[in-house]
Amino acid sequence: MTAQEKSLLYSLLNNADCLFSGRVSSDFAPADFKDDAEITAQVSELTKDAAAEIKKIALDIAQCDGCVLCKTRTNTVPGIGKIPPVVLVIGEGPGADEDRTGEPFVGKAGQLLDKMLAAIQLSREDNCFIANIVKCRPPANRTPLPEEAQACSHFLQAQIDILKPKMILAVGNTALHNLLDTTAGIKKLHGKFFNYQGIPLLATFHPSALLRDESLKRPAWEDLKLFRNKLLEIVPDYQSSYLNGGSD
Ligand code: URA
Repeated sequence: MTAQEKSLLYSLLNNADCLFSGRVSSDFAPADFKDDAEITAQVSELTKDAAAEIKKIALDIAQCDGCVLCKTRTNTVPGIGKIPPVVLVIGEGPGADEDRTGEPFVGKAGQLLDKMLAAIQLSREDNCFIANIVKCRPPANRTPLPEEAQACSHFLQAQIDILKPKMILAVGNTALHNLLDTTAGIKKLHGKFFNYQGIPLLATFHPSALLRDESLKRPAWEDLKLFRNKLLEIVPDYQSSYLNGGSD
């Protein structure tokens, strides 16, 4: 709709209101309408800006020597996905496959993560961004040390500030502990909602844990259903971007 059409509609509605309510047209605030095309152009400019800032963070990560993990990495793994995303998924840190490719969650655990997300109409192509607590592989896939997570945290924080996800899905203990500053385990805290800087966050089991222990698949699915229901409250049409291949 053009700005002119919106203005016309607005004054028609105001006139109708005056007829029935006894108000006068000067009671209505003047409105500054924009053409839909102009709004779309502004949104795509903002998206371009966000994508450029995310790329800049990835370049900074590639230069980072803030902890010992930089000495053994092959590639940094800054994160990947839709910009802006509806959901930010946060894991632990790159494994061997991710270190080799520079992309998060591409190994066996990553393939399972993609299936988990697809089950609730989410994907890295259409509506999710996927990142980790640390952006470099810990040797032999050990858990990142607190000082490594700490040294990397400003990158994740910058990503969150730019991406402004509507919800966060934290997978596994490392994401849970570092984001919520808790030592309680995922078995205790999974399936509960937390407020992370104003963003609803739910933690569930890491896909690697599901690969090791099949009995965790049922509670993980229950968590995902809770996550989907909450997301539907916040973004009722979020599934359309998945069903339409990311086009809206
Ligand atoms: N596990 C993670 O936590 N992150 C990855 O990127 C890959 C495996």
